[in-house]
Amino acid sequence: MTAEGRGSILIVEDDTGMRLFLGEALRKEGYALREAETGAAALEMISAEQPDLVLLDIRLPDADGLDLLRRIRSAAPETLVVVMTAYGSRQMAHRAVEEGAYDYFEKPVDLADLRVVVRRAIERSRLAREVRDLREQAASNPIPGMIGRSAGMLKMASLIRLVAAHDIPVLIEGESGTGKELVARKIHEISPRNGRPFVAVNCAAIPETLLEAELFGYERGAFTGAVRPHEGRFEQAEGGTLFLDEIGDMSAAMQAKLLRTLQEKTVERIGSKASKKVDFRLVAATNQDLAASVRTGRFREDLYYRINTIVLRLPPLRERGDDLRLLADRYVEIYGAKYGKEGLRLANDAYGVLRSHSWPGNVRELENVLQRAVLFAHGRDVGPEHVALALSASEGPERGPERGEDRPDEEKSLLENVGEIAGSAEKEMIVEALTKSRWRRQAAADLLGITRRTLLNKMKKYGLS
Ligand SMILES: Nc1ncnc2c1ncn2[C@@H]1O[C@H](COP(=O)(O)OP(=O)(O)OP(=O)(O)O)[C@@H](O)[C@H]1O
Ligand SMILES: [Mg+2]
Repeated sequence: MTAEGRGSILIVEDDTGMRLFLGEALRKEGYALREAETGAAALEMISAEQPDLVLLDIRLPDADGLDLLRRIRSAAPETLVVVMTAYGSRQMAHRAVEEGAYDYFEKPVDLADLRVVVRRAIERSRLAREVRDLREQAASNPIPGMIGRSAGMLKMASLIRLVAAHDIPVLIEGESGTGKELVARKIHEISPRNGRPFVAVNCAAIPETLLEAELFGYERGAFTGAVRPHEGRFEQAEGGTLFLDEIGDMSAAMQAKLLRTLQEKTVERIGSKASKKVDFRLVAATNQDLAASVRTGRFREDLYYRINTIVLRLPPLRERGDDLRLLADRYVEIYGAKYGKEGLRLANDAYGVLRSHSWPGNVRELENVLQRAVLFAHGRDVGPEHVALALSASEGPERGPERGEDRPDEEKSLLENVGEIAGSAEKEMIVEALTKSRWRRQAAADLLGITRRTLLNKMKKYGLS
């Protein structure tokens, strides 16, 4: 039984008349059919051929129906089983469903019902297989530079490969620090547009009045100060990919202009009447719920439908299971090398401390925390005390779901936040950061993830000024 065509079905039924009747009806629908009269024959075919669907008569002479069902499930976990029960034995049917049957119907069989149940079951079984195949492919074919083997990230990798091959707009959604920009770059790198420019614009970081000039460019004399012509980002992205980050922050006027650009695939520089053809693939990102912004009228619906042909939802770090460890080990390696502490490793119990945090700032927060933890570590291991200390100094994301009471007070001593664990580590780490940054205060504060003012206070406290 191949997985080609419309799907493969095995009918397990001891009543010859019934078997022929079902076989005939389903063959007409285009399915590849096999038949078995006994439980033993059925099991043999199922282990060998893994059909999409088994239609199982729950009352066979040679087998207990529920027991057979369990054995089918373990021999072919992805095969769906629809059981057929005698009229009036609904209780049996329900027990079968509890044992993992996908659905049931009672005899006498209504052909219209049968067709619907079978079609639905086959569709579902095929989808499950397709997703699994893509995942397996992704597992053996990771995206270079993207760390993660959790189900969510493997799915992401296969989606990236899929969208990279098609020249359609992509919208990336995800909390801050989940890797939206990284994904945008990977899509570009894998796509045929690789080798042409990747141009990133953060719509939230550029004041509204400047965004138009930035995106569209301008001619000399278009406004005061426009002393020479300027090529806009759309033009710079020619042949390549334009990444519009935080697209949800665009003003209504800019949304209208962007929509027109996407529809007409031309741009006009400010102060020019001439329009120029542009060719770029749009990748947009947002950490807000754009659909909600559409409902409140904050974001144009027509623009939304232009950019959301494909939506990639990046899972937050707290939903990526052991990816946390893969990422953590990598950052320890990177920063270990950077700070001259080669061979440094993350201790097991340090990993436990990482696990207990919810990472509202996601991968970016993890990287910052481990950078600091590496800085604090001496000896061979990054221990739990180093991670706890680094976490206590973590300021989290600009806006995250979890900013609140448990965030350590900046002005409170770092030592108070971690209690006894730290010992004299705070002073030590400040000295270390100052040394690394050659006593440039701001650089040292950045390294430690605290504000300059906090650093100055602490330096005074430890007599370091
Ligand atoms: N799966 C990953 N593997 C390796 N590095 C990652 C991964 N995800 C994110 N990073 C790294 O984490 C950092 C944050 O990623 P990125 O800037 O792409 O996130 P973002 O979602 O755009 O964040 P923001 O919403 O704050 O703009 C980057 O240094 C990026 O390289
Ligand atoms: Mg970003």
